[in-house]
Amino acid sequence: MGRKNKLGRFSDLMSYPNVYENFDTHNPHLIGQNNEPVELKGEWAKKHFGNTHPITLELACGRGEYTVALAKRYPERNFIGVDIKGARIWKGATYALEENLKNVAFLRTRIEFIEKFFASGEISNMWITFPDPFPRKSKANRRLTGDMFLEKYKAFLPIGGRIHLKTDADTLYEFTLEVLGSRSDYKSVTDSSDIYAGDLPHPDLDIQTYYEGRHLEAGKKIKYVQIERIN
Ligand SMILES: C[S@@+](CC[C@H](N)C(=O)[O-])C[C@H]1O[C@@H](n2cnc3c(N)ncnc32)[C@H](O)[C@@H]1O
Repeated sequence: MGRKNKLGRFSDLMSYPNVYENFDTHNPHLIGQNNEPVELKGEWAKKHFGNTHPITLELACGRGEYTVALAKRYPERNFIGVDIKGARIWKGATYALEENLKNVAFLRTRIEFIEKFFASGEISNMWITFPDPFPRKSKANRRLTGDMFLEKYKAFLPIGGRIHLKTDADTLYEFTLEVLGSRSDYKSVTDSSDIYAGDLPHPDLDIQTYYEGRHLEAGKKIKYVQIERIN
């Protein structure tokens, strides 16, 4: 993976076949390679990946470590990383192209609009990896496991679909369990306040992201909640 400044990365992204972008909140259409508008809602597997495999979304993917590592681990599945920061997505997208990982794509958008890009049942499960915890109560509605976002995910996550939250933040971990306790449409299947204290609660928790590395260096405990949509 080469080194490039932000402008170089943004211009690369526009030429990449594995990156889609949307910046217009009033218009959910995606822009693909060479600025071409594309419609993928309900057709990601067929039109982008050229198969019928199930799709996993990674939200707040940053450099897309989960997207890329899971794609290598599960070649029979498709993976889409979502983040607003193009310079970060560039890393994962460049790596996926260099490694010829055909089951990887990235979507650059605000997660607030995520329900506009996928059809009912189109996503089989999700990872949310070290999202910004928004510790202040006044910003709680921006937490990706809050009520507003859980409602949005129902637009594409079927009943039985799982959401895996990995975080260093006590506030976000406790908040998530509290939200789940108050809802009848999602439940916590497994949770851990320190995943490395014993056997990993899920085998894919061994993948470590850039932010996880920083939190581990700072001596923080890594937390996990596995959520199931039940209604
Ligand atoms: C703390 S970083 C974690 C990145 C990566 N998952 C990791 O663990 O290294 C949080 C990421 O969430 C993205 N993000 C935060 N809020 C977002 C939003 N509303 N829509 C899209 N991306 C968002 C940021 O751009 C950032 O890359």
